[in-house]
Amino acid sequence: MSTDAIVLLKDDHKTIKKLFKEFQDAGEDATQAKGRIVGRIIEELTVHTYLENEVMYPEVRKLLPDLEDDVLESYEEHHVADVLCAELFAMKPGDERYDAKTTVLIENVTHHIDEEEQDWFPKVREGLGRKQLQEIGARMNDMRAKAPREPAQPSALKKAVDAVTA
Ligand SMILES: [Fe+2]
Ligand SMILES: [Fe+2]
Repeated sequence: MSTDAIVLLKDDHKTIKKLFKEFQDAGEDATQAKGRIVGRIIEELTVHTYLENEVMYPEVRKLLPDLEDDVLESYEEHHVADVLCAELFAMKPGDERYDAKTTVLIENVTHHIDEEEQDWFPKVREGLGRKQLQEIGARMNDMRAKAPREPAQPSALKKAVDAVTA
């Protein structure tokens, strides 16, 4: 199995976008189902953001200093998603603003994923060699098992704070 960092991150994106579609297709009254889907979205996003924040972004920032502005913008986009995830995590499906907040999360993350895939990943692939991308991917795989899975865990919150104050 490939450990190419970009392939791994795109796989995550695919999973996340599939969950977004499930939420959008769930229908107005499917409160319970939507709550389950949002729970999965939060889990997937928490893990994915952690791996990008901890491994991919710092590595790219170090190896490709020209992409620093892209990395900084991405941290900010992650931060917005983190805030929305933490708020949703504390809410109950059926709350007045639950669906609206999820919709805004989906819009923001979709924009972010598109930017990564269409603009940022191609630049990274051009700048880094296959071997480097495979090493970064292997490190992300190693960290996946111990990555936080929900925003309430202090390590996830701390990372969010670190990301904006670093
Ligand atoms: Fe990202
Ligand atoms: Fe991503």
